[in-house]
Amino acid sequence: MMCGLSDSEKTMKVYIETLGCQMNRLDSELVTGQLLGAGYEIVEDLDTADVFLINTCSVRQQAENKVYSRLGREAGSDRRRIVGVLGCMAQRRGSGLLKRYPFVDIICGPGQLHALGEMIRRAADGEQTVACDPDRKDGRAAFEGNSSIDSLDHDRDTAVGSPAQAYVRVMRGCDKFCTYCIVPFVRGPEISRSPDAIYEEVKQLANAGRSEITLLGQTVNSYRYSAGDRAVGFSDLLERLSGVPGVRRLRFVTSYPTDFGDDILHAMRDLPNVCRYIHCPPQSGSDRILKTMNRKYTRTQYDSFIDRAYEIMPDVTIAGDFIVGFPSEEEVDHEASADLIRRSRFKNSFIFKYSARAGTVGAKTLEDNVPFEVKRRRNRELLAVQAEVSLEHFQSFVGREVELLVEGPSPLADKPINVSDDPNRLQMLGRTSGDHITVFQGPVSLAGQYVTARITDATAFTLFAELVE
Ligand code: 5AD
Ligand code: SF4
Repeated sequence: MMCGLSDSEKTMKVYIETLGCQMNRLDSELVTGQLLGAGYEIVEDLDTADVFLINTCSVRQQAENKVYSRLGREAGSDRRRIVGVLGCMAQRRGSGLLKRYPFVDIICGPGQLHALGEMIRRAADGEQTVACDPDRKDGRAAFEGNSSIDSLDHDRDTAVGSPAQAYVRVMRGCDKFCTYCIVPFVRGPEISRSPDAIYEEVKQLANAGRSEITLLGQTVNSYRYSAGDRAVGFSDLLERLSGVPGVRRLRFVTSYPTDFGDDILHAMRDLPNVCRYIHCPPQSGSDRILKTMNRKYTRTQYDSFIDRAYEIMPDVTIAGDFIVGFPSEEEVDHEASADLIRRSRFKNSFIFKYSARAGTVGAKTLEDNVPFEVKRRRNRELLAVQAEVSLEHFQSFVGREVELLVEGPSPLADKPINVSDDPNRLQMLGRTSGDHITVFQGPVSLAGQYVTARITDATAFTLFAELVE
């Protein structure tokens, strides 16, 4: 537990900026709860903050450049406040960051966030802290025995975050070592949390009204917890958590193809509150590239996974990730990725240009030899193929009724609908259980509620709907 603050520190205002994936959003939410509990105030406006924390991402160079530019701006400002760099980039760069940014007070890797309150207190006394887990050379080495696996997640303040949705970590780290990926180095070895701890956390969240729970893991479906002769796999975990009273939707991201057994597909089919939504990145459609990426499946195996998923759940929604311009990628490999999108009928895909990450096998042994212009073109081309597939997918919903969890007023402006003079009836945004963004006109008071809506129109990215009274 955190030390209390002295009177003079009681009102320290903390601003947290979060970059990167859902895991980071969860970490920031947990940090927020922890700091609130220790007497800090969380503010939305950086200008008023005494402490600026930036929770960082290292997955691509672009994400790191954003942090450099934020720190550069901080260096140029006259305002002197406590600055903390948190998360993956803190773990990756460690004290190296201080050479360029000596004014940074705290460097805190993802495995050390539980002690952040204490680090801020020390920074207020003028002390600099660099807290990272030891470097992972290979295998499971360094993070083994890291007792902090649960320390940030337990004692969670269930009131912090959005009213109806919550992320829950079921595992940390990754042992897959895809050759392009920095995650196994910055997030450490794969460690599954105990099912009892997860169950308890989900129960508390559900009691606090958080009815849509998203389970998080870098390869969430590889979840496996062993205690004595008892082993709990991911399908067992889904079954247990789906029974928590008040959990109306149970989701999970991100999946790894070869760990998606039929037991998980059957659990998704049979448990009514488990969303029929799968985010399972193929990364490439070409066997040669998959092999160089050290993805542990072939194209045929990926295709048959998709076939099994549609066979067991004809209405399942599937999304993917791709990397374009991976070292040595040729047009024929790129075509294979386009073909995979068409064949898999993805709802959407996230498409990334390859970015060499220092320390990975890819950066050490593969020449980043696809020109930037080619990466850019392939990125555009895959997005265009995906847009065609998405449009067909979204249009298949027109005329159907869906259940939406309403998030709030819609920030989307691409197609306003029926905007009336009534200020209480705004364009609202909700999501289907298959994660389709849906806009409709309705009262603001619906935020956080479930409604039934009829789909009237669709683009490649959005469903348009009317409330069914
Ligand atoms: N370059 C580009 N994209 C990457 N991803 C992971 N590492 C890299 C990299 N070095 C992508 C993968 C992954 C997603 C989170 O980010 O597609 O699924
Ligand atoms: Fe990175 Fe591969 Fe692990 Fe995903 S499975 S986090 S891409 S190493």
